[in-house]
Amino acid sequence: MLTQRLVLTGDEAHDLPLIQQAAAIIRAGGLVAFPTETVYGLGADALNSEAVRRIFLAKGRPAWDPLIVHVDEPEAIRRYTRDYSVLTEQLIRAFMPGPLTLVLPKRALISEVVTAGRDTVAIRIPQHPVARALIRHSGTPIAAPSANKFGRPSPTTADHVLHDLNGEIEAVLDAGQTPMGVESTILDMTTQPPTLLRPGGVPKEAIEAVIGEVRLLRDSFAENEPLPAPGLSARHYAPKAKVVLCAPEPEQFYDTIRDALERYAFVGAMRPAGWHVPIAPRVRVFEWGDWGDWHTLAHRLFLGLRTLEREQVHAIVCPLPPEEGLARAVRDRLQRAAHE
Ligand code: TXA
Ligand code: MG
Repeated sequence: MLTQRLVLTGDEAHDLPLIQQAAAIIRAGGLVAFPTETVYGLGADALNSEAVRRIFLAKGRPAWDPLIVHVDEPEAIRRYTRDYSVLTEQLIRAFMPGPLTLVLPKRALISEVVTAGRDTVAIRIPQHPVARALIRHSGTPIAAPSANKFGRPSPTTADHVLHDLNGEIEAVLDAGQTPMGVESTILDMTTQPPTLLRPGGVPKEAIEAVIGEVRLLRDSFAENEPLPAPGLSARHYAPKAKVVLCAPEPEQFYDTIRDALERYAFVGAMRPAGWHVPIAPRVRVFEWGDWGDWHTLAHRLFLGLRTLEREQVHAIVCPLPPEEGLARAVRDRLQRAAHE
């Protein structure tokens, strides 16, 4: 199959026919990768089981790991879910459209293939104008995981999508780099209080300011219990190089790179602005951004991992962000990328 790259310019007269072409592919049961405000998604008609099955094949994703359904208005959330609470209404009003996904009891319209047989569905309203236009013109909810091969760093550019999926999907809508760079926050609304399944674009603190206490998943199950939610495998988002984390101090960063040079032939460094790295021909540097500027660091995280991977380093040294605000999402992705 030939994967078409549909390059958008931001000029409506130019873009509209391309979005209509992508929407026609979705309606016909095909696969289209598209930008959201978080990362690129790999979309199919959520009401067409055959089309959704193709997502799992293209991604190499296990059938037990359910997908997020993308819709373009709060009314659509009501159409596909049940037991809509006051808290859910408050969250929709405060954060949608935006990088927040809610897990709610599903209605029968949503295919079992999408939810991996569960009786809940993860649903969100993306903010990116291209994602919204695609959903609107398709006239159907769009099921979409991140548009990478299973386990790989999420794609924040159309090049990343094509690197992983060229020849396996009908088209990618190319609108440049995605603004946030980390995936949506996932909140399970079927527990009381709601449970944070994945930190993401909307910080836990911002959610708590609207609905009160949110439970962290880690607090709610013991080490040796089975995972209470799918898709939480410790290893994920990983480049081919080994990710080596260090404390967020310039000296620690320098020393960790120096140590890595003794064990690995080529070492990559995710460098915060102004931090020093050992001068050595075997070091490759990715200029990450100002430490503490979590928006920039999140925006450039997966780009950095994929860029250093392409430079064929064997290890990537990276300081670990704190557990607060948007930094929590960056920290989570790095810990999973580093997991053996
Ligand atoms: O920002 C995002 O959320 C991106 C863009 C494309 O929207 N999507 C994304 O999808 O990150 P994906 O498939 O890479 O991650 C979705 C996660 C998976 O870990 C999956 O297990 C979880 O959502 N999930 C989906 N449905 C669920 C459900 N019913 N209950 C619990 N977890 C669910
Ligand atoms: Mg993913």
